Amino acid sequence: MTARVEISQLSKTYVHKPWLWGKPQENPVLKNVTLTIPENRVLGLVGESGCGKSTLCKVLLGIEEITAGTVKINGQDIKGLSATAWQPLRRVMQVVYQDPYASLDPRMTVRQLVSEPLDIHQLHTNPAEREKFLKELMLSVGLSETYLPRYAHEFSGGQRQRIAIARALALDPQILIADEPVSALDVSVQAQILNLLKEIKQKRKLSILFVTHDFGVARFLCDEIAVMYKGQIVEQASSEELFAHPLHPYTQQLLAAVPSVAKNGSCLKAHPFFTSGREGWSCSFASRCSQAQATCQFASCSLRQVTPNHQVMCITKIQEKKND
Ligand SMILES: Nc1ncnc2c1ncn2[C@@H]1O[C@H](COP(=O)(O)OP(=O)(O)OP(=O)(O)O)[C@@H](O)[C@H]1O
Ligand SMILES: [Mg+2]
Repeated sequence: MTARVEISQLSKTYVHKPWLWGKPQENPVLKNVTLTIPENRVLGLVGESGCGKSTLCKVLLGIEEITAGTVKINGQDIKGLSATAWQPLRRVMQVVYQDPYASLDPRMTVRQLVSEPLDIHQLHTNPAEREKFLKELMLSVGLSETYLPRYAHEFSGGQRQRIAIARALALDPQILIADEPVSALDVSVQAQILNLLKEIKQKRKLSILFVTHDFGVARFLCDEIAVMYKGQIVEQASSEELFAHPLHPYTQQLLAAVPSVAKNGSCLKAHPFFTSGREGWSCSFASRCSQAQATCQFASCSLRQVTPNHQVMCITKIQEKKND
């Protein structure tokens, strides 16, 4: 399978310069992230708030610069690309954001919103052909063509997210970066948008990076899931494997905190275990880990393959798997 996105040892550090004097403060947000998104696959990126998911999306989209490592889109290294060199890549890769209320200009009609990328890239310029294309595009995302003259502010959240998806698909991209596209929607609308994304992925053979907090959503849509903690990928496996055998204590903790109807009445493990005195340990998760051992203090931590489709960054689990 061709890799459309190849991320290798990617690091991103923000530097906060003091207003008057003092040393610049470094905030390493992404640390040695290595991920691949093949053709026609959905890679889920799951992790708690502030772990660096959106930063990774911004780096892929060229909004943030790479501090170290490489990112290749269809084999092309994006580091230091000029605005002109980005132009063809923008056609290949599109984005859908979390909040359809903020991402669509309420003063623009649906026709203007969906046509804008076509105008920028000079596509379907013949008026009759453009009209036919827009109608088909609207239908493909489950919207009526009669919505084209209406304004974005006239629609519900779910309808707006469909418009945002139509806008993203207008250029017939190969890669879709979806940064929590259903988190702002209620569950029934979430289900409709997820079904739509699944259908679109299959029809268009899209490669999708799907960012979410929600393991249920990830399980439904993603072929592969990467779990991020403090800017590092701590576990990665096929969706099936990850839910059947979560290995990293952080993944286990996240899964235990998922509310479900079945857990009604019982207490969710929503509050992370915390042990002080483990700051600065080799494993960055040690201070929240209920399974930490003395080796976690010094042993070097890196993502290791434990079964053909499963990688984990936990020295204890790697050792356990070796002894199996
Ligand atoms: N432009 C910026 N300058 C400095 N720090 C930033 C900038 N953007 C993000 N950060 C920091 O990077 C870290 C990761 O932020 P990011 O938005 O990637 O998290 P996230 O995983 O997407 O969180 P959420 O799930 O809440 O959306 C945060 O600590 C944030 O403060
Ligand atoms: Mg985010």
